Amino acid sequence: MPITVLLGVQWGDEGKGRITDALAAEADIVARYNGGDNAGHSITVGQSVVRLHLVPSGIFHARCLNIIGNGTVVNPVNLLKEIAEIRAAGIEVSPARLRISRAAHVILPGHLALDAAREAQGGIGTTQRGIGPAYSDKAARVGIRAGAMDDPEAFAAMVRAHTERVNRVLTHEFDRPPLDVEAAAASYAEAAAQLRAYLDDTTHLLREALRAGKHVLAEGAQAALLDLDHGTYPFVTASSPTIGGVMTGLGVPPQAISRVVGVAKAFTTRVGGGPFVTELQGEMALRLRGTGANPWDEYGATTGRPRRVGWLDAVALRYAVWINGVTELALTKLDVLSGLPEINVCVAYRYKGRVLEDFPQDTAILKACEPIYETLPGWSEDIRGVRAWHALPANARAFVQRVAQLAGAPVRLLSTGPARDQMMWLEGVQS
Ligand code: IMO
Ligand code: MG
Repeated sequence: MPITVLLGVQWGDEGKGRITDALAAEADIVARYNGGDNAGHSITVGQSVVRLHLVPSGIFHARCLNIIGNGTVVNPVNLLKEIAEIRAAGIEVSPARLRISRAAHVILPGHLALDAAREAQGGIGTTQRGIGPAYSDKAARVGIRAGAMDDPEAFAAMVRAHTERVNRVLTHEFDRPPLDVEAAAASYAEAAAQLRAYLDDTTHLLREALRAGKHVLAEGAQAALLDLDHGTYPFVTASSPTIGGVMTGLGVPPQAISRVVGVAKAFTTRVGGGPFVTELQGEMALRLRGTGANPWDEYGATTGRPRRVGWLDAVALRYAVWINGVTELALTKLDVLSGLPEINVCVAYRYKGRVLEDFPQDTAILKACEPIYETLPGWSEDIRGVRAWHALPANARAFVQRVAQLAGAPVRLLSTGPARDQMMWLEGVQS
């Protein structure tokens, strides 16, 4: 069956971009099914690192058609900026290579302003890309769909009306200055005129492609623990990054999915607020985060914020593997653990004197959980760029094996460095 799904199984930033990049080499179509430009997928192209926010990672493979699905939210102005950056890296972007679903929702200037206003009153640490307000309007059935860009003038009128409505909220509820209605309408009309050629009924396009036996890679943004339903609510994003989001966000049947690749880091990171049971402070946190001197250090690709870091949480990982039906894991950043004398993995939680084996659905309970660690011996060898399983130190292999066992899914892909080829396919380190 022709759909491979790639999704994050932690709190985002697992290195999905580079794994999609590797899988896209075998795909005919790469499709984003959720989220918007809150995502930041870094891909190494030659000597430079390109950061994608909404455009699917297949854009770097000449044979791939890229789809921005109906489950996404699109900021037209930011999308044009992103397209310009991709072009600056020497990559062709045209409607022949990129399609936007007419049913995707548009992120409007008012959404950005509301996101910022709510965050200023003590929010959850969003990326301030207008994601929550855009999906709120979608659910309230007052959103604007991408298809409206077909008629830039009518679209401008909709943007004007929306901005006026938001201005009343901004000034009355938040005591903030109103947005410039005409400037908003004008910039969006101009963006629409440029983007209308990319609009398509992508559900039908995908159906025809699947019927013709084409291979589709569904690229998830964000991750399981940021899922609106399954994540650590309210410290989540507003879309469905988990498996159900593939069906609703692209309009494809579940039977078409044959492979679900869950991407996990060998440790854990999180940006923004919310509970994080295995979080570390001090020296060890600095050690895992990196200084920020390298593009792969743990600083947000979209916002530049330093990421919170901690040990691998196998309780959360097992939960994410189950709800997504993960058939194989891609484990990234194993090389970052090199040189540590010991490595901790959280195998259960302690909550009010009890031992919990399952990830609690109640965020208040999760917040009060303490990690129960299993300590594994580290390795001193630099494993950067090692590309054969047996060339890895025995303790590194034992670590990967233990992760597979605890997660309940085989590890099929291992990354050992930031460069495009510093990864290895495994037969499947079994759980
Ligand atoms: P990728 O695809 C990490 C987090 C934000 C915040 C919460 C809600 O690169 O893994 P939002 O702006 O979505 O309303 O913010 O979700 N968040 C991410 N964290 N990686 C991402 O994307 C994220 N997208 C959103 O930090 O805590
Ligand atoms: Mg990110």
